[in-house]
Amino acid sequence: MCGIVGYVGSREATPILLEGLKRLEYRGYDSAGIALLNGKNVSVVKQPGKVRELEKAIKVSPISATCGIAHTRWATHGSPNLPNAHPQMSTDGTIALVHNGIIENADALRVQLQKEGYLFVSETDTEVVVKLIDLLWMEDTLLEEAVAAALRQVEGAYGIAVVSSRDSNKIVAAQNGSPLLIGVGQEGEVLCGSNAAAVISLTREVVYLDDGDYAVLEPSGFRTYHLSGTEVARSVYQVTWDLESVEKGGYEHFMLKEIFEQPETLRNVMRGRLLEEEGDVRLGGIRDHAKELAEVRRIVMTACGTSWHAGLVGEYMLEEFARIPVNVEYASEFRYRHPVLEEGTLNLAISQSGETADTLAALKEAKQAGSDTMGVVNTVGSTIARHTDFGIYLHAGPEIGVASTKAFTSQLVALTLFTLYMGRRRQMSVLQGREVVAALQELPDLVEEVLQLNDEIRDLAQHFKDARNFLYLGRGYQFPVALEGALKLKEVSYIHAEGYPAAEMKHGPIALIDDDMPVVFLAPRDSVYTKVVSNIEEVKARQGRIIAVVSDNAPELKGKVDHMIRVPHTIPSLLSVLTTVPLQLLAYHMAVIRGANVDQPRNLAKSVTVE
Ligand code: F6R
Repeated sequence: MCGIVGYVGSREATPILLEGLKRLEYRGYDSAGIALLNGKNVSVVKQPGKVRELEKAIKVSPISATCGIAHTRWATHGSPNLPNAHPQMSTDGTIALVHNGIIENADALRVQLQKEGYLFVSETDTEVVVKLIDLLWMEDTLLEEAVAAALRQVEGAYGIAVVSSRDSNKIVAAQNGSPLLIGVGQEGEVLCGSNAAAVISLTREVVYLDDGDYAVLEPSGFRTYHLSGTEVARSVYQVTWDLESVEKGGYEHFMLKEIFEQPETLRNVMRGRLLEEEGDVRLGGIRDHAKELAEVRRIVMTACGTSWHAGLVGEYMLEEFARIPVNVEYASEFRYRHPVLEEGTLNLAISQSGETADTLAALKEAKQAGSDTMGVVNTVGSTIARHTDFGIYLHAGPEIGVASTKAFTSQLVALTLFTLYMGRRRQMSVLQGREVVAALQELPDLVEEVLQLNDEIRDLAQHFKDARNFLYLGRGYQFPVALEGALKLKEVSYIHAEGYPAAEMKHGPIALIDDDMPVVFLAPRDSVYTKVVSNIEEVKARQGRIIAVVSDNAPELKGKVDHMIRVPHTIPSLLSVLTTVPLQLLAYHMAVIRGANVDQPRNLAKSVTVE
């Protein structure tokens, strides 16, 4: 989720590139950089932090140029520091490259390049690509030929833009799984960008590249090719959205955009990590800690809010498949309650932002008590990521909407990957492992299917818009989903909602049920389905208004529930992802209908860095 912009033409490139970067800053903001072609040189300026820091640095020594590329970074490989900022350069400084995405075979390519004598100055996968272009650039050939040769060896997702003083006044751009578009400027100028926001100040005419395409941009125009070298024609589209909606990808709110991004974010958290044949996973962030993980006798997860809910699903999975005892603790309680942390305890901190004060304090507490520490974190290089011994990144991109959506489902998948890792090294069979891997592989497509329920759920929200209370009930893997559904509703629509284990209801909350109480039942067909059907009957008998989230036709529920939301079926642990999505949509639409500020709900902050 970095931002890329490129310009070649007759005007000064710097202000155009900086303007594009500012419009892309919502995509990532831990460092920014620019490469300008002036005469026979490539001049590069990079700064940690926001684009305004880069702007200040450029003002000190301005560079006149009419061709350049620029980048604002959201770290995926390596900490957010200066050497890891983009552009990344060839050793002789003649090629500069900016990249958005994740190169899966970067480690193998790095080893190959090191054997050729290349030295690396960053931890990024991007530097591998620029050095590979350098290696493959044959004498008397063009930059685009070298780029295409390198990309044929690259596996993974990328949107890139490259410039070189060896073949100047041109940009080569390419895409595979990470968008890169061309902006058709006025006569004599062409732009490129990771989305339309990057180019919109100069043009509304854009050309979307397809995966496996590359393009050559020169002042005289542009040409598009397939990686095989064949020239291909790509159509010009007119951008009709205003800037704000371009940043939101055409969605009305970031929350909705992030809900709809989930098929992609789930692909990202799994990318390059699944081993289909072995029914296992490859997790770079924990690979070197096999010994510590083999000695783990108990896992204590610490987290807050939505991340705590993800931890509960993780607890159920790890206990079921890896047979490791797990406790999930509110970080804010854990830090003050003198917990017993015996030898062999692993502290697993879960955090989207990586900056939550309570989770960080709990982590320090566990460290002090001698526990090994692990993170499941979205923000690369964040404080929690830096303070844990090892971990798994989510690669979900920045989450802008205050209510966490895509990070939650990525946490569930990251915890599934960790369960596979721990399970397969304990008592989980290859067959079981393969079953989970297969279910993971089809999960993004199933989430796409769930997203098609959007209109149906908007109608449902309209129906319940005046409700003052909501109850969410689920059992097993669906209990944490009930908690998460209730939290989403309260935080964005300000309707009081409670999540409860469905069977616990009769020990108290059942007193609340009357014809004015909507009850959302999570009732996919899993091992506790028949039990949940009984709980539904208990509510029906008291005139509660029931919405059931099911995973098939659920004939047992005909006549017993008022509304049914049907999601596709998968293995029970991953049903938690599929049943979460309609609850996110329900909360979103309720909030919009009630006129609430969806992306910045009152009293809430995205990152809670105070106690
Ligand atoms: C709810 C929400 C919060 C966070 C919590 C922890 O939608 O976003 O409950 O989950 O503040 O934040 P992180 O995961 O950044 O540690």
